[in-house]
Amino acid sequence: MPSVISIRNLSKVYDSGFNALKSISLDIEAGEIFALLGPNGAGKTTLINIVCGIVRPSSGTVLANGHDIISAYRAARSVIGLVPQELATDMFETVWDTVCFSRGLFGKPANPAYIEKVLKDLSLWDKKDNRIRTLSGGMKRRVLIAKALSHEPRILFLDEPTAGVDVELRRDMWNLVRQLQASGVTVILTTHYIEEAEEMADRVGVISHGEIILVEEKSVLMRKLGKKQLTLSLNAPAAVIPASLAAFPLTLSADGLTLIYTYDAKDEGAGVSGFLDAAAQAGLAFHDLQTSQSSLEDIFVDLVKARA
Ligand SMILES: Nc1ncnc2c1ncn2[C@@H]1O[C@H](COP(=O)(O)OP(=O)(O)OP(=O)(O)O)[C@@H](O)[C@H]1O
Ligand SMILES: [Mg+2]
Repeated sequence: MPSVISIRNLSKVYDSGFNALKSISLDIEAGEIFALLGPNGAGKTTLINIVCGIVRPSSGTVLANGHDIISAYRAARSVIGLVPQELATDMFETVWDTVCFSRGLFGKPANPAYIEKVLKDLSLWDKKDNRIRTLSGGMKRRVLIAKALSHEPRILFLDEPTAGVDVELRRDMWNLVRQLQASGVTVILTTHYIEEAEEMADRVGVISHGEIILVEEKSVLMRKLGKKQLTLSLNAPAAVIPASLAAFPLTLSADGLTLIYTYDAKDEGAGVSGFLDAAAQAGLAFHDLQTSQSSLEDIFVDLVKARA
């Protein structure tokens, strides 16, 4: 797949001397939803701000749609929309004016029909004549998204789009992102809600202390690093784990009524039937059985902990 963003050996040392990015290389593929995950201060916003021309890199290169973000800034920036992490917009303008103005900044001719569609998609149409300061926090965030989409970008960066927004807006955002992807827009988002990445992303990148420590297709990641658990609800309490089951990684609950078998999500099947046979032979009778799979969140926490 062709890459729409190509980042090579990108580093950033802030004036304070802080080294926020350490020689990052990353390719974003056309049409994908890429989730960039990492703890506070990992460098996510720094990376996004460099690609969008807000922060100057110390070294390295970034191409957006083939345009160098420094030597061909205007061409690069015109294909990118950015929803920034911080809310900063002109509070005294109306919604309609501020979104139209954003489009004008990119030298695009006015297109009221398109702006109307964007505002309707974001449920902002009935607020179009309101001044921004009269909107709620979630509505202000929607205005930022409308501004980012005003010039019909092919690449959209969403820096924590759903921080502090309600469940309904989060659902709306997810739907909007899927719609944008269907129309060919590439989406890069950062989030601290891992279930959001699990729900939305085609690929996941994890950044920690200014370094990309992992880039993987989400499905592969969950298969490779995921764990599954099989929980047996026993008919009678077991005092100890039977010796014949010593080969299986098991935990027994304090009341002796629940036995949990943890196994690798990749060797699905084989381990489970072997374990159930062995449990039957050990005379363990059970009346219920449940399986669960570790979430992307479990995987992420393990990864970042291992690096700390
Ligand atoms: N203008 C600046 N001057 C000096 N240091 C900065 C500046 N901006 C960011 N930093 C530092 O660079 C590091 C990365 O910050 P960045 O905002 O990129 O993190 P982040 O991954 O977006 O975190 P968060 O999840 O909290 O948004 C932090 O240690 C931060 O303090
Ligand atoms: Mg940030």
